[in-house]
Amino acid sequence: MCGIIGYIGDKKTIPILINGLQKLEYRGYDSAGVCISNNGDLKTIKKKGKLQKLVDTIATQDIDGPIGIAHTRWATHGEPNEKNAHPHLDCKGEIAIVHNGIIENYSSLKKLLEKHGHKIESDTDSEIIAHLVEKFYKDDLESAVREALQLVDGAFGLAVIHKNEKKIIAARRGSPLIIGIGKNEMFVASDVPAILEHTKKVIYLNDNEMATISQGGYEIKNLEGKRVAEKVEEIKWTIDQIEKKGFKHFMLKEIFEQPEAISNTLRGRIKEDRIKLSVNFDVKDISRVLITACGTSWHSGLIGKYILESIAQIPTEVDYASEFRYRKPLIKSDDLLVAISQSGETADTLAALREAKEQNAKTLGIVNVVGSTITREVESGIYLHVGPEIGVASTKAFTSQVVSLILLALHIRQEKGLKVDKKIIKELFRLPKKIAEALKSAEDIKKIADKFKDSKNFLYLGRGVNFPVALEGALKLKEISYIHAEGYPAAEIKHGPIALIDEDMPVVFVVTKNNLTQKTISNMQEVKAREGRIIAIVNKGDKEIKKITDYVIMVPETVDELSPIINSIPLQLLAYYIAEAKGMDVDKPRNLAKSVTVE
Ligand code: G6P
Repeated sequence: MCGIIGYIGDKKTIPILINGLQKLEYRGYDSAGVCISNNGDLKTIKKKGKLQKLVDTIATQDIDGPIGIAHTRWATHGEPNEKNAHPHLDCKGEIAIVHNGIIENYSSLKKLLEKHGHKIESDTDSEIIAHLVEKFYKDDLESAVREALQLVDGAFGLAVIHKNEKKIIAARRGSPLIIGIGKNEMFVASDVPAILEHTKKVIYLNDNEMATISQGGYEIKNLEGKRVAEKVEEIKWTIDQIEKKGFKHFMLKEIFEQPEAISNTLRGRIKEDRIKLSVNFDVKDISRVLITACGTSWHSGLIGKYILESIAQIPTEVDYASEFRYRKPLIKSDDLLVAISQSGETADTLAALREAKEQNAKTLGIVNVVGSTITREVESGIYLHVGPEIGVASTKAFTSQVVSLILLALHIRQEKGLKVDKKIIKELFRLPKKIAEALKSAEDIKKIADKFKDSKNFLYLGRGVNFPVALEGALKLKEISYIHAEGYPAAEIKHGPIALIDEDMPVVFVVTKNNLTQKTISNMQEVKAREGRIIAIVNKGDKEIKKITDYVIMVPETVDELSPIINSIPLQLLAYYIAEAKGMDVDKPRNLAKSVTVE
């Protein structure tokens, strides 16, 4: 949820930390802070609000040194203010920590520490760690952190410094953390973009591992203090992939990247009409697929249900990960648990995956971020390969997840010995072009967005495989424009939502050609009869629909299973342009974070 960066080396620390925080802002941005260690002195600056406030304050001060840690926060315990911002210090101001995660037993630890005379300044769970380290500190920071962490229940990605030690201690349980290896310099960060400008060599810390980093090197141990073998990996993403490339927002760039992103997801995975996925187990024996995910990824999972049942002929259930993990699901060893996650770090999805593993299900991840926790815990995986997604509202990862689910469904069908429909394969290869075609409506959609930007509510309706597309369209609008929007199966409106319809209610219909088109047109008539204003996503040549629709957005036609991918494009653009017309902070909507590593 929060972003961490730490640096030790021979360059100027402040610019490296600030730059790193800027790259991590998507993880949280309600407050930020840095702590610099220089010649036995710790200097901390924290600010409430966007990172720029911290940057402006630092600019007025003469502060730097060879070691520093920094943090951008997404509040869990304690409101966003300066006191609750990280880094947190111990009583003597000698130890500083930055933390991502949740310390579950913090109130009992707080009581214990207060009994021993510690004065806890903030309302956060994180500050407890600084005081625990202080309690155990006897001239050896590494041992003190290790002892402190023995008492901690919950999740942490952590970086700790002491004013007298030329090192940073990093530790991880449940919250991502990487170590970056440079020349005469070392880094710690919660995600690769934060350090990519400086090094491409990283170590992904595993759960319950600790790293001691100094200017000259590093040592990785487990929480018991035993050395563990580390794996140094080379990052392939370039910094250029992370920049905005001339678009006003990352989200718009990522929407327009979809033709290329989908090509990358497909690359090498279909050869001579055969699906080539490296799935480590025999999918023939699977009797049921259980999909689990959160947010937008859950919507792709809902589409996955239609796809897996129709293409792979396999019963499929879809759960919110946060519900799945607590509802005592009945899982069998011939079930396949599919965890879908852009970040690969979402706490609920990870917990659901672990629950299924415990009950011996086979597991597969559909994930974008290489090396993320979910990818390391599943038996098999399908990487999206869409490059970093920075905009908090997911776009290219979503369409790629749907493509990945189609590949999975085709793979299962093929392994079951059933004939694979060549038309779907052909259409998969045509997708990048068709998405590019759909993107050409951007200017028209912008005009529609201007007309509707002041609406207070929106309804999104679709049927069949396009019902989840309606849900996702509504979610995109809510996330970035703060307009209330709901998605419904079109036929369901007469059981409630139709009561809301009047001339002030825009209704977006996804009504591209399939066996349900006529039925959806009847639903459109019902809305029209009540003076609702209709925006319709249609294929070319649908004259009947045009007559009853106020605004028509054309998209290329494809097979039903692939239509959610193309139909989502105008809905992403509509949400984007409405939010942009309202002057919203599109890439960093209020209260949301890109990677939710707390439950
Ligand atoms: C957050 C993001 C959403 C995302 C969801 C799941 O809520 O704001 O955009 O869909 O997490 O994230 P994941 O990384 O697991 O796909």
